[in-house]
Amino acid sequence: MTSASEAKVEILADPEALSHRVAAWLLELATAKGGVFAVCLSGGATPKQLYERLAEPPYRNTFPWSQTHWFWGDERFVPHDDVLSNYHMVREALLSRVPIPVINIHPIPTEGLSPEVAASAYEGELKTFYGAAHLDLSRPLFDVNLLGLGPDGHTASLFPGNSVLAEREKWVCAVIGAKPEVRITLTYPVLESSRHAAFLVAGDEKRAIFKRLRRDDDSLPAGRLHPTGTLWVFADANANG
Ligand code: 6PG
Repeated sequence: MTSASEAKVEILADPEALSHRVAAWLLELATAKGGVFAVCLSGGATPKQLYERLAEPPYRNTFPWSQTHWFWGDERFVPHDDVLSNYHMVREALLSRVPIPVINIHPIPTEGLSPEVAASAYEGELKTFYGAAHLDLSRPLFDVNLLGLGPDGHTASLFPGNSVLAEREKWVCAVIGAKPEVRITLTYPVLESSRHAAFLVAGDEKRAIFKRLRRDDDSLPAGRLHPTGTLWVFADANANG
């Protein structure tokens, strides 16, 4: 288990440099693995730039698209074509622009079912992909988990003070009341089941929270996320202050 103070930290000049570095890092990991590669995605403006990079050369032509599976760490419970949807954002920035087999794309369902049923359906999908109903620490679910850091210290849809923070059994939960719209989020044990997890942090409005994360402030939801594998932080100079 890795905590933020033990993370490998890279500071890049600006969000654009950050997106180039993380795209190269992702390609390197996918190529080194050389087989099925599972990535858990986050929403937000910082990862969006990364997704746009991946849709451009050289990644467009060299990334092992057919071997890579894409999952979401959280989702707003809105239709998939809604501008608030994390799936929609990734589809526009990346998925619709590169040769990814549809069966490799695993959006969180949000239509025609209740949030609780959606959470349990996605838990089933993750378990099927993993091939077991229990997570084995020596065999992480994800190769890479891309994480955001909210100004309040949230990551995925794990918000301060929410009861979902204490969930250790369910893999996926509905989050009601934390935000105006219902959210679906993966829980800590699942987000932590990753060979590499990386916080992508940019902008001076993140400076204070980023300092607290690096000091292992476990009052922050993001500060309590301890992946089984290596934790990385890619931040821009403004966030690093
Ligand atoms: C949300 C946002 C959020 C985001 C972080 C970092 O669902 O509320 O998508 O989780 O990932 O706030 O966002 P930026 O990369 O835009 O700073």
